[in-house]
Amino acid sequence: MIKVAVLGYGTVGSGVVEVFRQNQEVLNKSVGQDIELKYVLDLREFPGDPVEKVLVHDFETIVNDPEVNVVVEVMGGLNPSFNFVKRCLENGKSVCTSNKELVAQHGTDLLQTAREHHVNFLFEASCGGGIPIIRPLYQSLTADKIDEVSGILNGTTNYILSKMASDGSGFEEVLKKAQDKGYAERNPEADVEGYDACRKIAILSSLAFGNYVDYKDIYTEGITRITAADIKYAQTIGVSIKLLAISRRTEKGTYAMVSPVMIDSANSLYSVNGVFNAISIHGNMLGDAMFYGRGAGKLPTASAVVADVVEAAKNLNKTVMGEGWNPEKLELLPLDEVSSRFFVRIRGNASSVLPAVEHAFGEVDPISIPSMDGEFGFITGEMTEAEYREKSVKLEGIISMIRARLHG
Ligand code: HSE
Repeated sequence: MIKVAVLGYGTVGSGVVEVFRQNQEVLNKSVGQDIELKYVLDLREFPGDPVEKVLVHDFETIVNDPEVNVVVEVMGGLNPSFNFVKRCLENGKSVCTSNKELVAQHGTDLLQTAREHHVNFLFEASCGGGIPIIRPLYQSLTADKIDEVSGILNGTTNYILSKMASDGSGFEEVLKKAQDKGYAERNPEADVEGYDACRKIAILSSLAFGNYVDYKDIYTEGITRITAADIKYAQTIGVSIKLLAISRRTEKGTYAMVSPVMIDSANSLYSVNGVFNAISIHGNMLGDAMFYGRGAGKLPTASAVVADVVEAAKNLNKTVMGEGWNPEKLELLPLDEVSSRFFVRIRGNASSVLPAVEHAFGEVDPISIPSMDGEFGFITGEMTEAEYREKSVKLEGIISMIRARLHG
């Protein structure tokens, strides 16, 4: 009999309990023996909730119980999660978590602790919610040299950008609606500033490239400056604006960044809308593969956590993720050396300002929108960020810039 403890009875924790309740038979069959929820840890009381039977308030009860084989950490944050998870691993218990902050900040240490104690530290639900992506990276895509991971890794921001595009509304208005519907937190900073996607791409890149990628090294820009006017330009030229998390090996080195990007319909992420997430992987033998599904939400996330519980239960004395990633940090290419194209909005009429624009950037096609007098847009050719900055400072009246990855 495998015994499981859950740390935290919030949204994901209650989802984990629900998966156990609804799919107990499936779980027993997958594991090959009975698996039971022995404890749920939370500081709060839940009068009348069936969880009361297994509810405990003291972590020591769990960490010191030799019957507990697998611990689920779904409290979020770093404190006390890190300390709790470390102590569980040191006490010979595997840990499964959905906590991307914890994995991005302490994953290297926790993977090593798990290896030293012949247990598992698993985190499928930390990236892409219910989408299987961590296990494919360490178990399935192992014959390839992965040279790019790019994805829509945050449901809240994808919902906001999709809604801005479908309704023509501004960022603030859509954010408020998203908060009312529960698609955005009351404090939306981690999502809308791109911090959440940054931690997720750091984890995926560490696994894909085999060396630790520090999330603090990743250039991160959120969606708060995207306006209804930007979306209008995008629609005029048939592209969409997505918050992309990208990491890529190039001849110059590996770069990683999170920022809004204009993409066209040739990009497999173009049609990923609403709260959905998708991750596109490019391998040198595989070519492209895309993983798509629900990147957040109680049951999809809990489903991924419990799949890890099954994996841990089937491998009680064996570390399945191997190295996970090498602790030696992958030095990322400075942002200045990263190349892309740039969509730029500038004040003035194309007839008078275009010569100065073309003097700086070479030949471009002006994009004008009849209802937006006194400005126009253009898309540059491919150049590095440093080159873009150097050229753009010579021009007066630039309103905004959005990076563009266009095939056409
Ligand atoms: N806030 C996150 C999102 C939740 O919107 O994707 C899942 O990590």
